[in-house]
Amino acid sequence: MFDRSIKIAPSILSADFANFGAEIRAIEDQGADWVHVDVMDGHFVPNLTFGPPAVKAFRPHVKTFMDVHLMIAPVDPYIDAYAEAGADMITAHIEAGPHIHRTLQAIKATGKMAGVSLNPGTPAESISEILDLVDMVLVMSVNPGFGGQKFIPTAIEKVRMVREMIGDRPIHIQVDGGVDPQTVGPLVAAGADCFVAGSAVFRGGSVDKPEVYGENIRAIRDAANKALG
Ligand code: DX5
Ligand code: ZN
Repeated sequence: MFDRSIKIAPSILSADFANFGAEIRAIEDQGADWVHVDVMDGHFVPNLTFGPPAVKAFRPHVKTFMDVHLMIAPVDPYIDAYAEAGADMITAHIEAGPHIHRTLQAIKATGKMAGVSLNPGTPAESISEILDLVDMVLVMSVNPGFGGQKFIPTAIEKVRMVREMIGDRPIHIQVDGGVDPQTVGPLVAAGADCFVAGSAVFRGGSVDKPEVYGENIRAIRDAANKALG
């Protein structure tokens, strides 16, 4: 059942890379709705993170929803591997190749939910032909590759445009990059319902101080709910 309630999806790119199982359990215990897994290939983005074996190792620790963000190109050859690794949502970048329609068909064919992601330089209109193939539109509010970057405010207007294009289709709007208690409000007001946060969730906490993760998640959620009015 589709619901547009506020979801906070901490990105484990900001977690302790020597302790993913414990970190995933900690953020979920502390209120995370989804777990956002940033896959990077050192080609589409200038950073390198998790292959399918790593995502498979994360899977048993995820009790909520594993949201896999593929910042890779080409993406089609790897869709089945990330689906088999246990992703619940597979999000591909519209910029990753010439055939986003076919890519999204391939993701849906695995039985997983399909997301499409737009970099800050990509217009909202670019998704007009694929809206009936996606479960989520991910509006990037940083240029992908790293955590801890500065929020790009043009994402707010883009969310508003995407929201208008979606109409009453059951499609989530996720925002990713520089999301924190200060930036989340305008994004909610513009129509977004799912918020990735790496540094704003993990900063100041650890698996030994997980309550800080809870405080950080609550701060973002409270600011989001306040904007809902
Ligand atoms: C950036 C990733 C984001 C990033 C978010 O390429 O897609 O998910 O980890 O990190 P923060 O919230 O610190 O900007
Ligand atoms: Zn991401």
